Amino acid sequence: MTVREIVTSPRPILRKQAKKVRALTSEMQDLIDEMIETMRVAPGVGLAAPQVDVSQRVIVVEYSEDSQDPETPAKPAKLYVVVNPEIVRHSMETVAGNEACLSLPGYFGEVDRYEVVTVKGLNRQGKPFRLKAKGWLARIFQHEIDHLDGVLYIDRANQMWRIEESEEGQAPTIV
Ligand code: NI
Repeated sequence: MTVREIVTSPRPILRKQAKKVRALTSEMQDLIDEMIETMRVAPGVGLAAPQVDVSQRVIVVEYSEDSQDPETPAKPAKLYVVVNPEIVRHSMETVAGNEACLSLPGYFGEVDRYEVVTVKGLNRQGKPFRLKAKGWLARIFQHEIDHLDGVLYIDRANQMWRIEESEEGQAPTIV
């Protein structure tokens, strides 16, 4: 398995509209495997194909809901692979949270995101995928789908900081 190099800002591919995936070829399957590996090694909780220099609409997300209660163990991480993802519904409410991005190393920012989103697309077998995500998982999907439209979180951030300025409890999720 190959770990791909992560493209960082200001590389132009990060600002392009990625192309819709037409066929789940063996090259596409290899790309998906390598995106999963690259995300895990980084480490991050999400990755979009333009971040590995491929302008195609594919994202991978792997996230474990962290338990606030030390008595309750954290749930195991769940892996999602979504081809041609779209947000088809969202809540009116937004929540502020701290995000960082593998393509913008050294920084994090506070971003308002929808609290709940419904994501539609295809899984890696080409079968319909639909998921209603809340909280951090919803945030990660919004961040990754933005990457497919050439949008970075800095475009939406209320405020930005250098990562070394982060205080306890403020540590961002890297997506
Ligand atoms: Ni990112």
